[in-house]
Amino acid sequence: MRVEAKSATTGFEDVHLVHRVLPEIDRDEINTSIEIFGHRLSAPILITGITGGTRKAYKINSALAQAAEELGLGMGVGSQRAALENPDLAYTFTISREKAPHAFLMANVGVHQLYSERCAEEIKAAVDMIDADALAIHLNSLQEAVQPEGSPKFSGILSKIREVTRTLSVPVIAKETGAGVSAEAAALLELAGVRGVDVSGVGGTSWAAVEYHRARGRGKASSRRLGKTFWDWGIPTAISLLEVRQSTKLTTVASGGVRTGLDAAKAIALGADTVGIALPLLKPAMSGADRVVEALQAFMSELETAMFLTGSKRIEDLQKAPVVIVGKVADWLNARGFDVREYAKRG
Ligand SMILES: Cc1cc2nc3c(=O)[nH]c(=O)nc-3n(C[C@H](O)[C@H](O)[C@H](O)COP(=O)(O)O)c2cc1C
Repeated sequence: MRVEAKSATTGFEDVHLVHRVLPEIDRDEINTSIEIFGHRLSAPILITGITGGTRKAYKINSALAQAAEELGLGMGVGSQRAALENPDLAYTFTISREKAPHAFLMANVGVHQLYSERCAEEIKAAVDMIDADALAIHLNSLQEAVQPEGSPKFSGILSKIREVTRTLSVPVIAKETGAGVSAEAAALLELAGVRGVDVSGVGGTSWAAVEYHRARGRGKASSRRLGKTFWDWGIPTAISLLEVRQSTKLTTVASGGVRTGLDAAKAIALGADTVGIALPLLKPAMSGADRVVEALQAFMSELETAMFLTGSKRIEDLQKAPVVIVGKVADWLNARGFDVREYAKRG
C-alpha cells in the first residue's frame, strides 16, 4: 500500500552538493553533533511523531525511544489526543521517557487541543506526560480536509498558537504532517512566538494517500476521489525548507521524504538545523529497537560520507558548503522572488 507521494518529489534531486577532490580532512575527524534548544544530539536527526494510543503504539514508541537514547538522537511522539481523552492510554507515551531518560523528547498535540476549553491544562498535561523538552503542534489541514470525519476548522488558529507559546515553559515547534510550510506562514508563526518549524513537506508520507486507501477499504467513492486528487498536494520539502530559511530565523527541521543521509546532508547545507524521519522507521520499530538502531546507523554513515566528500568536519561546515540548486526547486524559488544563486558561490 503506497502512502508516499506519487509523482511529486522532495526536490532534493535538484539540490547538488559540490564534490571536493581535496577534502583536506580525515573521515574519523568528522563530528556530526549539534545543539537544539540547549540539548546536544550526536547527529542532526529527529525521529518525528508517528504513533501512540494503542498496544502496538506502545511497542513502537518503546523501540524508537530506546534507539534515540542509544544513539543520542531526539524523538517526537505521535498525537497525544487519545491519552488526553483517556488517561489509561498514557502508558503508550510515557514508555518513551522511560526508555529514553536523557534524550530530547517532543510532546505532540493537534489543532483539536488548541480549541479545547481546557487547552492550557491539556497541553501542560501532554508535556508533563513524557517530561518533554519541547512541544510540537501538528498542523494537518490537508488531512482534516480529505478525511470524511475530519474537522477542517482553522479560524483563529494563529492566536491559539500565540496563547500556547506565551504560557508554555518549553519551546513550541509548529509542525506540518506532509504538505510543507510557506515563507509567509513561517514568518507569522515566528511572530506568534514559536521557536521552531518542522516543514514536513511533500515527497514523503502523504495523508491524502492514507485517506485514499482508508476510503477504498470502506467503499467511499467521493472520499477516495478527494484523496486521489490531493495525493501530491503541498510544498516539496527542499522548497519549503528554503522558503522558511529565507523568511525566518527559526530552528528548522527538514522532514517529509528524507530517506537517506545524503538527503539529510543536502537539507543541512540548505540551512536545516536538523532533519526528521518518520515512515522509514515504522517497520523497523515493529521488529524492535535493534532494527531502528541499524536503520539510523546506515543513515548516519551516509551523512558522514557526504560530510567527508564535501570536506565538512562539523555540521557548521556543511551548512556553509557550496550547493547548486537547479530544476523545479530553482524555478519555484525564482518565481517566488528568492535568489538561490548565493548557495553556489559559497566555499
Ligand atoms: C504512521 C504515521 C503516523 C503519523 N502520526 C503523526 C502524528 O500523530 N502527529 C504528527 O505530528 N505527525 C504524524 N505523522 C507525520 C510525521 O511525523 C512526518 O511529519 C511525516 O510523515 C513526514 O515524514 P516522512 O516522509 O519521513 O514520513 C505520522 C506519520 C506516519 C508515517
